[in-house]
Amino acid sequence: MVFDIQAHEREIFMIIEQAAAELDAPAYVVGGYVRDRLLARKSKDMDIVCVGSGIRLAQEVAALLRPIPRIVTYQRFGTAMIKHKDLEIEFVGARKESYRHDSRKPAVEEGTLEDDQNRRDFTINALAVSLNAKNFGEILDPFGGLHDLESKILKTPLEPGRTFSDDPLRMMRAIRFSTQLGFEIEPNTLKSIAKYKNRINIVSKERIATELEKIILSSTPSVGFKHLFDTGLLAIIFPEMVALHGVEIRNGKGHKDNFYHTLEVLDNLSKKTNNLWLRWAAIMHDIAKPPTKRFDPEHGWTFHGHEALGAAMVPKIFRRLRLPTDHKMKYVQKLVRLHLRPISLTKDNITDSAIRRLLFDAGDDIDDLMALCEADITSKNPNKVKKFLRNYVMVRDKLTEVEEKDKLRNWQPPITGEQIMEAFGLSPCRQVGDIKSAIREAILDGLIPNEYDEAYEFMLAKGKELGLKSSVS
Ligand code: CTP
Repeated sequence: MVFDIQAHEREIFMIIEQAAAELDAPAYVVGGYVRDRLLARKSKDMDIVCVGSGIRLAQEVAALLRPIPRIVTYQRFGTAMIKHKDLEIEFVGARKESYRHDSRKPAVEEGTLEDDQNRRDFTINALAVSLNAKNFGEILDPFGGLHDLESKILKTPLEPGRTFSDDPLRMMRAIRFSTQLGFEIEPNTLKSIAKYKNRINIVSKERIATELEKIILSSTPSVGFKHLFDTGLLAIIFPEMVALHGVEIRNGKGHKDNFYHTLEVLDNLSKKTNNLWLRWAAIMHDIAKPPTKRFDPEHGWTFHGHEALGAAMVPKIFRRLRLPTDHKMKYVQKLVRLHLRPISLTKDNITDSAIRRLLFDAGDDIDDLMALCEADITSKNPNKVKKFLRNYVMVRDKLTEVEEKDKLRNWQPPITGEQIMEAFGLSPCRQVGDIKSAIREAILDGLIPNEYDEAYEFMLAKGKELGLKSSVS
């Protein structure tokens, strides 16, 4: 079969052909670029394999291009990269690679195109397009990759155990591609992941995190998590999530399966947002349900405090998964900690004070919190879903109303610590903090408005109560 070369590719392909001919080093486009182009997906990374030196070919290609691009060379790996228009093109010599079993670092050996295709992860990633005069544009497909692309199947080119042993990250990649592309993992390949799951332990946490992120950013992330769970990989990389799985029944009372519930929340939210960290909040929102689970003969199953414990569990999990521990993690913690609060605002006769407190605690993340709460509705009863959603519309209205009135989002105290110290002639001490929090509480409780004059009066009264003398008359 011939690759349908598009106008924007023709120039670069022909230059590579010319350079490869001059060096007598036949060249091919391989891997993800070919796959994505055949699937009509965008692709900016182009991998070129040549039977010879990749670095030499890159130099030759660069010399033929105008303007002449800079070449980034990785001597240790024998690769070179150039940027041309919006493409990143990487050149490498064909290899017959064998991986040591305790490491992913390859011992590189020169090889033929077939050797190179053999060592690739999936049949759909082992397709090559010839850039050589004798068969320019022909697709070289030794493992039936075109058929698998057509039938949406992920399958290793060699016996899966061998492909996965060469680089165990490929087990995660299989699950990631299947989630991203909506492909089935061929049964034997899937079985093999379960068999070799423990080998994931030799892969760096960073590489695992990259695949996990791609799964989470897919349109239906649950597909990937179900595969990770079923193959046993999830129990190794993220046991807290596996602990959510299962239903316990006591005195005829059961609770929902929190693993599948979490996945539903994640999928619901993924329809609404591409925000990775909001999606992480969905994954983590019930993470402390297993350790807080109790059975109360009267009320059935309870998970008291799971939102607070869940927020407290986030740092350890993020550190282990090599996720950031900066403001992104704090954001996830905040959403986990607050995820039950909007529910409590759906009751009748809710005070403005409760609304103010939520606005104050959530700050700018209030809309994300509401999106998480709405995604958290996974009832199978459409009437209940409608009712819960209607309640949240009411909560949103109340939030807007109070926010407009009190401007509490990103609240800054109307009176600063310095002003308090000045008013009472104090140096920094506990009383300054006490007065500051008293002012905040008074505003949140609606005792005084969120304004300077009223807060100042309140501060003077509070100081008097504490036996302080005002230094301003
Ligand atoms: N590859 C492999 N085994 C790996 C990683 C990569 O065999 N563990 C091969 C595959 O042929 C792959 C190519 O190297 O197509 C390029 O890898 P990479 O750029 O990581 O992935 P892509 O397939 O291009 O896909 P994506 O950009 O979505 O990661």
